[in-house]
Amino acid sequence: MPLQDAHRWNSRYQEENRASFGQPRPFLVENAACLPSEGLALDAAMGIGANAAYLLGHGLRVIGVDISIVALRRAKQQLPGLMAVLADLTRFHLPSNRFDLVVNFYYLQRDLWPAYYRALRPGGLLIIETLTEAMHTIHPEISPAFLLQPGELRQAFSHMEILTYREGWLEQKGRHPRAVASLIAQKRP
Ligand SMILES: C[S@@+](CC[C@H](N)C(=O)[O-])C[C@H]1O[C@@H](n2cnc3c(N)ncnc32)[C@H](O)[C@@H]1O
Repeated sequence: MPLQDAHRWNSRYQEENRASFGQPRPFLVENAACLPSEGLALDAAMGIGANAAYLLGHGLRVIGVDISIVALRRAKQQLPGLMAVLADLTRFHLPSNRFDLVVNFYYLQRDLWPAYYRALRPGGLLIIETLTEAMHTIHPEISPAFLLQPGELRQAFSHMEILTYREGWLEQKGRHPRAVASLIAQKRP
């Protein structure tokens, strides 16, 4: 399955407009005030690096992990300072107590969640945003495995200090709205 995922994402990124690098996710930008301004960040399932670019600009060192070589090459071309790692997150070991920030946008792999917690330093921040099962009302073809249940994300990180949590529909310019859950949680110092 991960090999198929790599092919699928490589094709998708190859078809995309090469000129566009994309914008960081609005949830990241809206919450810039709570981001650390130095230290080490992990961008899991980074894609072409728009979020990583934002974090680098914020003063963080960034390790971006993705299964798509096409995405990583594009990211690295734009961001020489990025530490880009080609890896399958379903078979990836994260070190403990290493990151000041972990971000995970639009990639759902539930068994990574405890590893994210362990990988954070005390006081470190976790930011996750991804689709919820409400997406089924407009995209019934999406596998439920890739969609969050109502309240699932908040419940999964209830042992952390939850700084922000929201669930609902996000409007997107020129595209269908998305049903998402978004969380910012802090590992207790
Ligand atoms: C919807 S994109 C999200 C990209 C980026 N986080 C963003 O906010 O735009 C999902 C990303 O997950 C990556 N991905 C899918 N399966 C993966 C796996 N098993 N290991 C690592 N990355 C994976 C894809 O290559 C793709 O870049």
